[in-house]
Amino acid sequence: MTRILHEPSGEPNPLRALGLELLRRRTSMKWRTYPDDVLPLWVAEMDVPLAEPVVRAVTDALAIGDTGYPAGTAYAEALADFAQKRWGWAGLAVERTAIVPDVMLGVLEMIRLVTGPGGAVVVNPPVYPPFFQFVTHMDRRVVEAPLGPDLRIDFGTLEETFRQAVAGGRRAAFLLCSPHNPTGTVHTAAELSAVARLAERYGVRVVADEIHAPLVLAGADFVPYLSVPGGERGLSLMSASKAWNLAGLKAALAVAGPAAAADLARLPEEVSHGPSHFGVIAHTAALREGTAWLDAVLVGLDDNRRLLADLLGEHLPAVDYRPGEATYLAWLDCRALGLGDDPADVFLHRGRVALNSGIPFGAGGVGHVRLNLATSPEIITEAVRRMAAAPG
Ligand SMILES: Cc1ncc(COP(=O)(O)O)c(C=O)c1O
Repeated sequence: MTRILHEPSGEPNPLRALGLELLRRRTSMKWRTYPDDVLPLWVAEMDVPLAEPVVRAVTDALAIGDTGYPAGTAYAEALADFAQKRWGWAGLAVERTAIVPDVMLGVLEMIRLVTGPGGAVVVNPPVYPPFFQFVTHMDRRVVEAPLGPDLRIDFGTLEETFRQAVAGGRRAAFLLCSPHNPTGTVHTAAELSAVARLAERYGVRVVADEIHAPLVLAGADFVPYLSVPGGERGLSLMSASKAWNLAGLKAALAVAGPAAAADLARLPEEVSHGPSHFGVIAHTAALREGTAWLDAVLVGLDDNRRLLADLLGEHLPAVDYRPGEATYLAWLDCRALGLGDDPADVFLHRGRVALNSGIPFGAGGVGHVRLNLATSPEIITEAVRRMAAAPG
C-alpha cells in the first residue's frame, strides 16, 4: 500500500496553542472531574483548538439553522476518500457502511449482530476499560487474551482463548483495538492476517475498533483490518472523533467487509437516529479538509513522546516507558517505583496530577498508569515534575 507521509504542513502546532487559563474554562470531563489544583492528563481529550475547517463547517450550519437530523452518506464518502489517500485502501465501500452514534455504541451493535446473549467477547488487555464495561453491560462475557510482554498480540494465547470461546458451539467475537489503546501498538499486516486466519479457523467474528487509525505517527503504517486477506468477514468502527478531538460532536461509522455486508444490513434502522447531525458535519469536514491540521498534531505528538521519554529518564528513571507508534497515550510501567498497585492514586493525591489508573485496563494493568500526551510540552513537563515529587 502507498501511504502519504506526514510532511510539515506549515500549520502551527495545535498542541502549543492553548494555555492553562483557557483550558480550565472548558467544562468537559477532562477539566471538570478534579479540582483546579490538579493537572489533568487522563481521559482521551486533546488540549487543542479545533481544525479551522471543522469550526467553519459547524458555524456555517449554525448560521443557517441547519440543526435537524442527519441524512445521506457524506461522512462515509469522506472516510472512503481519506482511507484511499491516507492508507492506500480503496476497499471501503460506502454501501457497506452505517452511521452509528459513536464508536462504543457501534461496537456494541456489531457485537450484538454476530454473537448471542452470554456469548464470549475476546479482548487483549491491557485495553481501553469501556471494552469491559460495555460488553458486560450488554449481557456478553469478556474473555481476556493478554498482550505479550512486547505489548503485541500473543498468538498462542489468542488461539487458546478462541478455542475456549467457541467451546460448545457458541458464537464468539474478537474485539480488536487497532491501533491499541493504551500501548500505542500498531498491528502489522502480518499480525492482522494471522488474526484473520485464527478467526476463520475457530469461527470467531472480528470487530475492529479503529478509532485511533488516523493517529499513527511517522514511521509506522496503519493497516485497516478489512484490507487484509481474510478480513472480508470483519466489521470495523471508524470515526474522526479521537484524531480531531470531536468526542462532543457524536458520530461514527460502522464498516463491513464484503462478507459481512449481510450482517451490517441487519442493523436496526433506529441506530441511525443516534448520531448528531452536527457530529456528521464536523467529522466530514475533518476528514475532507483537516489533514494539514492532523499532520501538525502528529508532528507535535512525536515531539511530546520524545519529551516524555527524556523527562522520565531524568526525573523518574525507574519508570518503564516504551513509546508507542500511535495514539496520544503513553503507557507507563511504574512497578519499580514501589508505589503499590495503583500509582495513579499516589500521583493524584500526593502529586496533584491526574492520570488513568492501569487497573481498569485488565490483566497487565496493575502498577501502570496511562498519561495523555495531547497537551503542551509545558504541561507535560509540569506533570512529570509533580509525578517525581509525589513519592517523597
Ligand atoms: C479504543 C477506543 N474506542 C472508543 C473510544 C470512544 O469513542 P466514542 O466516543 O466514539 O465512543 C475511545 C476513546 O478514547 C477509544 O480509545
